[in-house]
Parts: sequence; C-alpha cells; structure tokens
Amino acid sequence: MDTSGSRTVLITGCRRGIGRDAAVTLARRGHRVIATTHTGAAAESLARTAAAESLPIEAFRLDVTDGDDRRRILDRDIDVLINNAAVGESGSLAEIDIDRVRRSFETNLFGPLELTQLVLRKMIERDAGTVVFISSLAGRITMPFMAPYTMTKFAISGGAETLRNELHRISDGVQITVVEPGAYHTGFNQEMVATKYEWMDGNSYFHGILEKIRAGEERYFRRMEKGSTASIVRQIVRAAEAERPRLRYAAPWWQALGVRLMRMAGR
Ligand SMILES: NC(=O)c1ccc[n+]([C@@H]2O[C@H](COP(=O)([O-])OP(=O)(O)OC[C@H]3O[C@@H](n4cnc5c(N)ncnc54)[C@H](OP(=O)(O)O)[C@@H]3O)[C@@H](O)[C@H]2O)c1
Repeated sequence: MDTSGSRTVLITGCRRGIGRDAAVTLARRGHRVIATTHTGAAAESLARTAAAESLPIEAFRLDVTDGDDRRRILDRDIDVLINNAAVGESGSLAEIDIDRVRRSFETNLFGPLELTQLVLRKMIERDAGTVVFISSLAGRITMPFMAPYTMTKFAISGGAETLRNELHRISDGVQITVVEPGAYHTGFNQEMVATKYEWMDGNSYFHGILEKIRAGEERYFRRMEKGSTASIVRQIVRAAEAERPRLRYAAPWWQALGVRLMRMAGR
C-alpha cells in the first residue's frame, strides 16, 4: 500500500455512515477530500464538522442522479473517486412497482456510472487515478425481499469488474476496485427494509406472513450489524491508497468469508 502521497479524493453520499466516516478518516490521513452530499443542508453540517477539526474537507451538494450536479466536478483533478451514495429499496419482485426498482438503479448504478465517465476522462488522459465502487456483500448472494436493492449491487460488482478488465487494456495507471461492506448499523438497512411496508399491505401476495418477515429482518440485522464502521473504512482506505488495488475488498472478515463459502457451496 502506498500511503506516501496525498491524493484528492471525491466521495459521494457523505451525510452520515460509511461515506462520512471514510471522508473524515481519509482527511485525517492527509488527503484532500471532496465530500459530497445529497442535500445542501447535509453539506453545511459536514463542512462545520470539518472546520471544527481543521480537516481538509470541502463539502457540497452532489445529487448523483442530477446531470448539472455531476458536471460540477468537471474542473476538478480527482485522483480517487469513491462512489458511495445509494438508496435502499425492498419488496418482492412479484409485485413491486417497477418504477421503484428503476429509481434504485438511477441512484445506485446509472448516476454513479455517469459520474465515473466524467472523472475517467481526465484519469485516462493522465494515465492515473482510482475509481472505488462501494458495492455490498449483498451484491454476491441474494436475500429474500431485498432484490430491488441487491440487484443494483450485483450490477455494480459485475460492471466494475468488466470496466477494470477493459481499462487494463489501454492503461497501466487507471484502477477500478470494488469495496463490499457486510452489515453495518448506519440506519441504511432499517430504512431499506421499511420501504416495502409503505405498499406491501393487505393486497400483497405475502400479507399473511408480513409480520413474520418483519420480525425475521429485525432479528437478522440485530445479529449481523456491526456498530462501528471502522473495519470497512479501513478497506476503503486500502482501496483508495493502493498503487494497484485488488479487484475486491470486503469487511467484516467473517461475513466476507461466509459469503465466499456460500458461493463455493453453489449459492
Ligand atoms: N450499512 C450497511 O450495512 C451496508 C452494507 C453494504 C453496503 N452498504 C453500502 O455502503 C454505502 C453507504 O451506506 P451507509 O450504510 O453508510 O448508509 P447511508 O448513510 O444511508 O449512505 C447512503 C448515502 O447516500 C446518500 N444518497 C442517497 N441518494 C443520493 C443521491 N441521489 N445523490 C447523492 N447522495 C445520495 C444518502 O444521503 P441522504 O440520506 O441525505 O439521502 C446517504 O448519505 C452505500 O452504497 C450502501 O449501499 C452499506
């Protein structure tokens, strides 16, 4: 790992959770961090926190689905782009309104890909730079009622691997890498599983077992979620600082191992 040089790192979706913690950690390590948020209010709050600690963090609003917002980064020389912003959406594919799935793909896949294309232009010219895609261990194995979200992560993981192999044919210096978090208690999972109860009701195919599903999800995340994001932030730092990052980084290690074993067993 190369920790010698300070880099300009742009991270999306930094209001809280993994994005915010990664932004603060990278800034404390001496990188110039452009930490973008979904709303202007969140950017102001983050800027105040950064100023209080004298951290080299610039914060502004960048809605990844908004073309004008994305183009705000065109005059920047970005060494590392970390595509972190995402929304959670849940419910059965048997009955979900496909517009909800479409919106998930806009935020989690299409917006980040368009942002990546803008950043890649200069990276390819310079023959240097790293794009980190925050995917998920849920982009490697499926989970019932979470496909509207997990399909976006399967797509990111597959797309990023392909892009990496394509770019290696024309550039030694441009790197594409994927970070796959397991379950972390940021509030994201609770909000994601709750979206389906906005519309899965008495008319749902699953109405007879909705309470069972809800209780199972609560139990699952209570058991699996790590309270601190430190282990996944460490992986993001490794991915962002490496001269030649690996294809994948994941944490916590026991969840990553579990997923690997399940895949070896045919899942
Ligand atoms: N927590 C987990 O267990 C877990 C597991 C696997 C992967 N991940 C991934 O890790 C990343 C961070 O998640 P997290 O757990 O830290 O949850 P989080 O705090 O909710 O992070 C998601 C961020 O994305 C932002 N966002 C949503 N729509 C956006 C848009 N259109 N433009 C810009 N930003 C937008 C959210 O801002 P607002 O809240 O202001 O809308 C939020 O700050 C995500 O990619 C997530 O899929 C998390």
